[in-house]
Amino acid sequence: MTAARTSIHGYWSSRFVFVLAAAGSAVGLGNVWKFPYMAGDSGGGAFVLLYLVCIALLGLPVMMSEVLLGRRGRSSPINTMRALADEENRSTAWSLLGVMGMLAGFMILSFYSVIAGWTLAYVVEAASGSFTGISAQGVGEIFNRLVSDPLTLVFWHTLFITLTMMVILRGVRHGLETAVRFLMPGLVVLIVIMVVYALIEGDFSGGLRFLFTPDFSKITPDVALKAMGHAFFTLSLGMGAIMMYGSYLPADASIASTSIQVALADTLIAILAGLAIFPIVFANGLEAAQGPGLIFTTLPLAFGHMPGGNLFGLLFFVLLVFAAWTSAISLIEPAVAWMVETFSMTRARSSLICGLVAWIVGLGTVLSFNRWPRIELLEGTAFEGKSFFDLMDYLTSNIMLPLGGILICLFAGWIMSESSRRDELGIQHPAAYGLWRFLARYVAPLGVVLIFLHVLGLV
Ligand code: PHE
Repeated sequence: MTAARTSIHGYWSSRFVFVLAAAGSAVGLGNVWKFPYMAGDSGGGAFVLLYLVCIALLGLPVMMSEVLLGRRGRSSPINTMRALADEENRSTAWSLLGVMGMLAGFMILSFYSVIAGWTLAYVVEAASGSFTGISAQGVGEIFNRLVSDPLTLVFWHTLFITLTMMVILRGVRHGLETAVRFLMPGLVVLIVIMVVYALIEGDFSGGLRFLFTPDFSKITPDVALKAMGHAFFTLSLGMGAIMMYGSYLPADASIASTSIQVALADTLIAILAGLAIFPIVFANGLEAAQGPGLIFTTLPLAFGHMPGGNLFGLLFFVLLVFAAWTSAISLIEPAVAWMVETFSMTRARSSLICGLVAWIVGLGTVLSFNRWPRIELLEGTAFEGKSFFDLMDYLTSNIMLPLGGILICLFAGWIMSESSRRDELGIQHPAAYGLWRFLARYVAPLGVVLIFLHVLGLV
């Protein structure tokens, strides 16, 4: 039986546009901002190695499963899961997977927008020439001045949410294509130039050693959890963004090759960002484990000392804003589409409501970097010492996305009938299909569960 459902929100004009949109969702602050600072915090090589393993063994099968479910369901994740469960005569409680994803989307967007706001602020810093000849200390001062002022942060956060909602309101297919087709390659070119700069002026061998020489003693359950969580975060998996985008995918496109292309591009960009940043960190005696400020306190040093650096820095931060923008859109699209489907609301109204909710939750992250560095309520719990930002990040990346990923794999690998999944996935080669099924059925769910159990100290 082939379910010929249709999407009320329209389709991508081609498979290639889907690749662009999925890559636009995947490539964002996760690659350029989060990956380097997580690698820095977690001791480098060991984290990078685990992250790569997680991308290959967990990320890829989850991505293929998520696109598969989306394309078969053809609606927002909540309604897709309900329809698919219904089709297989299973409980419609599967739609809760979509609900959890939608929640995760709000939580991630709330802090994502604040960090994207930092990037916007740095566009202005670069434009006003403040990086020229700057010292390591000066760079730190600019960053601290920014994050210690809640009102400035709220301003940029508001601007970013507004930008995101302006695109969402018109439907994701407008504008997104141009943004990804031209601006993303631009970002890649700039990062490559930064890597070349790091090669000439930075401590490149130090950077290489840090990123690629794993110190196995640093592989703790906590580092494994972070690496796994980041694999989900960076590929936009486990919360329905990719499922939503899959629902706009034309029926004849190959899910496997699309997913592999997106995962490869995403991973490559993260590694390049690492190669651009750590040589500068070590050459200037900066702290690799300084947390979320890492790129903002290292890259301006490079911009301040390279020829044409102000213009270059300006371009870089503009392109990073665009990368964050295309990711932010995918974070909130499932919720907006669900409201349109369920309450027959206009896109405009549903975008406004979703944007407002994410904006309000984001205020907690704004305060995390100045007035409210730790949540007092968490004292004495396992989350002691975490700020609101830390908590949102931890709950989503390390718990909700991997949990969503397990459920997606279990549904695609076990619940769906063999003929439905084979038909929808469309992998011709029996061995390749078998490999996907094995990864989706066993490796990905058990891998995630094993890491969870390790963290809880149960194995
Ligand atoms: N993958 C995006 C990034 O790396 C973030 C994201 C996570 C987007 C989850 C959508 C869903 O920046």
